[in-house]
Amino acid sequence: MKAAQITHYKQEMPVITDVEIPTIKSTDVLVKIVAASINPIDLKTKDGGLKMLLKYKMPLTLGSDFSGVIVQIGSEVTDYKIGDAVYGRVEKNRIGTFAEYIATSANVVAPLPKNLTFEEAASIPLVGLTSYQALRDIMNIQPGEKVLIQAGSGGIGTIAIQIAKMLGAYVATTTSKENFELVKSLGADLAIDYKTEDFMQILSDYDYVFDTQGGKILENAFKIIKPDGKVVSISGLPNERFADDYRDSDGKKLPLWKKYAFKFVTKNLTKLEHESKAEYYFLFMRPDREQLRTLTTLLEDGTLHPVIDRIIPFENIDQAFEYSKSGRAKGKIILKMTSEFDEK
Ligand SMILES: NC(=O)c1ccc[n+]([C@@H]2O[C@H](COP(=O)([O-])OP(=O)(O)OC[C@H]3O[C@@H](n4cnc5c(N)ncnc54)[C@H](OP(=O)(O)O)[C@@H]3O)[C@@H](O)[C@H]2O)c1
Repeated sequence: MKAAQITHYKQEMPVITDVEIPTIKSTDVLVKIVAASINPIDLKTKDGGLKMLLKYKMPLTLGSDFSGVIVQIGSEVTDYKIGDAVYGRVEKNRIGTFAEYIATSANVVAPLPKNLTFEEAASIPLVGLTSYQALRDIMNIQPGEKVLIQAGSGGIGTIAIQIAKMLGAYVATTTSKENFELVKSLGADLAIDYKTEDFMQILSDYDYVFDTQGGKILENAFKIIKPDGKVVSISGLPNERFADDYRDSDGKKLPLWKKYAFKFVTKNLTKLEHESKAEYYFLFMRPDREQLRTLTTLLEDGTLHPVIDRIIPFENIDQAFEYSKSGRAKGKIILKMTSEFDEK
């Protein structure tokens, strides 16, 4: 099969190569992939930016999200059959959805939402689960509470706004002016043009900030947060709290030296936490089949809508990576792997 692989970190671009179709374990399904979505984590993985949390062997096929059709099932899999249309976010230690087939645990897949195309479905798992875990699991947003979602026009932001509105929040978001219509159509109550306005001058007493940017933008979140509020970042640095809670895909804790390393590099964030009396959380999303099924229900009942910027054929994966790297995506970038199931 064809797969987009890297042979070393910081490789310019993944290269489409002929490799063996993966073999499945008894608890796996083999999926013929119809569509996959690009996430900034693919670029970070390519550049070795996640080495502290994830160890990969080379050559490595990139890609985390997929939709497709089951072509083989493991002997212990009882809830799927060959021919089922499914979608999911694969386990972090078994990535590789930029390929014609993926072998993945049946535990991370869910049936394709009935009202979505394969391309629409592939846009959801990673950003949908991340946003759900931030806004519901960590923040536990209650109706009427105020949340700032940074970069409301991105892959994360477009779905996070919709989930925050579903939970009843008042939603402020940053983006550039040309994306105001988009973020407002998704439910944002207040849009702030980050190029000409400063969210710190406009917002105060926020219950939560969902930070997608890290760095100084993350530090500034502590200027608008209420005492007892929560700043949840998916792009900042992992802290000691994260290290204490983290388990890898095999259930193992992080070694102590990493906990101390995270504690050291987040000294400033810890100071900001104390000064603002708020809490800082770093989130590293995890695949979760039950939550994916919840998202399926929300997609099928029209609460959530996929937002797709563009669909790019697999053979032009370089273009997809370049566009993601530009940081200008409005919603999701989709890779189309095959037209074989287009009539669905
Ligand atoms: N830790 C985790 O588990 C996890 C999970 C998912 C994602 N992430 C991370 O979250 C980040 C966001 O992911 P994504 O998929 O949303 O990225 P994305 O789709 O590439 O984001 C692009 C969007 O960001 C907006 N943007 C860029 N700079 C901005 C700024 N300074 N202020 C406000 N908006 C800005 C752009 O709007 P304009 O064109 O108007 O500038 C564009 O619409 C990435 O770093 C990703 O790696 C982490």
